[in-house]
Amino acid sequence: MTELTTIRWEQDADGIVVLTLDDPDQSANTMNAAYIASMGAVVERLEREKDTVTGVVLTSGKKTFFAGGDLRDLIRTGPDDRQAVFDSLTVVKDQLRRLETFGRPVVAAINGSALGGGLEITLAAHHRIVADTRGLQLGLPEVTLGLLPAAGGIVRTVRLLGVVDSLLNVLLQGQRHTPARARELGLVHELVGSVDELLPAAKAWIKANPDATAPWDTKGYKIPGGSPSTPAFAATLPALPANLRKQLRGANLPAPPAILAAAVEGAQVDINTASVIESRYFVDLVTGQVAKNLIQAFFFDTQHIKSGAARPAGHPTFRASRVAVLGAGMMGAAIAYVYAQAGADVVLKDVTHEAAIRGKGYSENLVAKAVGRGRTTRQAGDALLARITPTADVADLAGADLVIEAVFESPELKQKVFQEIQDVVAPDALLGSNTSTLPITTLAQSVRRPEDFIGLHFFSPVDKMPLVEIIVGAKTSDAALARAFDIVQQIRKTPIVVNDSRGFFTSRVIGTFLNEAVEMVGEGLHPASVEQAGAQAGYPAPPLQLLDELTLTLPRRIRQETKAAVQAAGGVWRERGYETVVDRLIDEFGRPGRSGGAGFYEYVDGRRTGLWKGLHEHFTKDGHEIPFEDFKERLLFAEALESVRCLDEGVLRSVPEANIGSILGIGFPAWTGGVIQYINGYPGGLPGFVTRAHELAERYGEHFTPPASLVARAERGETYT
Ligand code: NAI
Repeated sequence: MTELTTIRWEQDADGIVVLTLDDPDQSANTMNAAYIASMGAVVERLEREKDTVTGVVLTSGKKTFFAGGDLRDLIRTGPDDRQAVFDSLTVVKDQLRRLETFGRPVVAAINGSALGGGLEITLAAHHRIVADTRGLQLGLPEVTLGLLPAAGGIVRTVRLLGVVDSLLNVLLQGQRHTPARARELGLVHELVGSVDELLPAAKAWIKANPDATAPWDTKGYKIPGGSPSTPAFAATLPALPANLRKQLRGANLPAPPAILAAAVEGAQVDINTASVIESRYFVDLVTGQVAKNLIQAFFFDTQHIKSGAARPAGHPTFRASRVAVLGAGMMGAAIAYVYAQAGADVVLKDVTHEAAIRGKGYSENLVAKAVGRGRTTRQAGDALLARITPTADVADLAGADLVIEAVFESPELKQKVFQEIQDVVAPDALLGSNTSTLPITTLAQSVRRPEDFIGLHFFSPVDKMPLVEIIVGAKTSDAALARAFDIVQQIRKTPIVVNDSRGFFTSRVIGTFLNEAVEMVGEGLHPASVEQAGAQAGYPAPPLQLLDELTLTLPRRIRQETKAAVQAAGGVWRERGYETVVDRLIDEFGRPGRSGGAGFYEYVDGRRTGLWKGLHEHFTKDGHEIPFEDFKERLLFAEALESVRCLDEGVLRSVPEANIGSILGIGFPAWTGGVIQYINGYPGGLPGFVTRAHELAERYGEHFTPPASLVARAERGETYT
């Protein structure tokens, strides 16, 4: 049985065959050629030896039950591979179907996470038992990579749970469920307390159910909730497109509609035809650009970052045990929470004791909510809160090994605050500033140990936002950078490392997005079209709305400072239209943004009620129109081009960090794979992007002129890696 390289076959005295998925050449099981060959051989042997086989247990020899499709293969799939992909899916599906129907009970004994293809294999079993262990996840997250579950995942969940429930709970958003939740949903049948109990439970089930078949292979089986062609189902159907619209927010993403179609169409035909429909939709998705972008970002780029490529080697792993947070405002209060949550002691300092106590109140609210929702226990919540000490006394910072400063955005104040604490905290404490714009190298001049000084740029709301931008100043040491990398991972966030510059990477790039939106308003284009373009391009918040949230005075101050710096360095500052719009909104119309009660939008009791009509009156030139595609691409190109400049200037140190930083930090649309992958994946590749950039420059201004490095790269036929 040489073909059985990735699956072990062991038969017990009762005739039960235990199949253990265990690829000897890889750390995880994937649906690679070796798996397909092994599974083919297994199924043939089961059919041949059916008389001596009483049942089958499917389990895994790895920590993760089965990882699913091999993304290294999938990302390389091009339009010429359509037939080959379809054929290999057909083989995989036939094998699982033969396993399901060869005539003996099959039980999946799920010992580790089964996501995507891993869960799909178990769906071909007649009974699923899961070890209810911490961290074990079950689900079909293909949609988050721009794909759909094509090894029978749609066909079988639709038949198991019904069209609506499978779409809403499993398929459309790709939720990852705990074992308990998966059983509640009906995705699995039985939980056991530990991995050791799996095999006995599986064998017991086989003995009790010698004639088991899949429910859909019993005569007269009806899909729960009915088929889409029945009247009962018609009542539930309208919920689906509405849900889909909400998920897509106007963006044109291919996977969710394909999943909806495969589910609804597949529910109206027999299982074999449904299976072919599922494969056809998959082939469209996997050969398209969006899936490649998402796989690049959420698998390869993320892996690159997690592997610690940006962390200087040779420094011991660091964990902060006592964190001094300076400033208990919006950011400081939230930073205190995430470190207390990660088990560190936190001293939260503000000017007055009252302000510090108010800052701790933020954590009290979050804990109360988490307890209310059953996400944590009262006891664990109280322990978290006990780790936060509010204070106004510098002496209380004694012994802190990590300092995170989050006082007002004033260089003088920040420098003063660091001078105050540097002799109180541990002599080798890491000194971090959460400034969002001020150059780290300048701030570091105020401390005696500039080598321990670093930028730690968090994003609001801190407990939800997954990114931290680490900024390396001119004198920051490798040891400090390594520690910064570690303390970001300590709170389970993703670090990107950038070199010091005005606005770093994220603030600088998002600024170009906001400016371009305002520029369009200034040109007389309709503000509603600008907002619509932002939504359709896939941004989480439309630009004018976001600008209102940030307050218009912030970009104005940054612009004034940048202008002064450019001029001081002997450069020329070119006035742009957006500057006038922002100035007039603040000075002439008294509309500084949401916190001031009025901005691009109207607010009633803090609630946004619609775009301000005056925008149309004072700025819009009726009849002035541009192609809608240009609205969207002006926003996307502005950010992508600024990111290229950041790479050129060495502000960005790698392409994966650019991509992940842009998606997780500043809401660059995920379907692009990130700011630089957007350029790689643009129709026509880099040359196509360059041509389009020249066209935008001609129409809308020279800030769209592609940098020489990009043009040269396109001419050499290279992409960004
Ligand atoms: P905030 O105004 O809410 O809080 C600042 C706090 O610092 C106030 O509670 C103030 O009393 C306190 N403070 C002032 N002087 C102090 C001193 N000498 N010692 C201790 N505390 C003092 O401001 P926010 O929004 O929390 O911002 C703080 C920093 O974080 C700024 O540098 C800002 O640029 C940066 N940041 C802000 C983001 C945001 O979304 N608001 C995002 C990322 C960074």
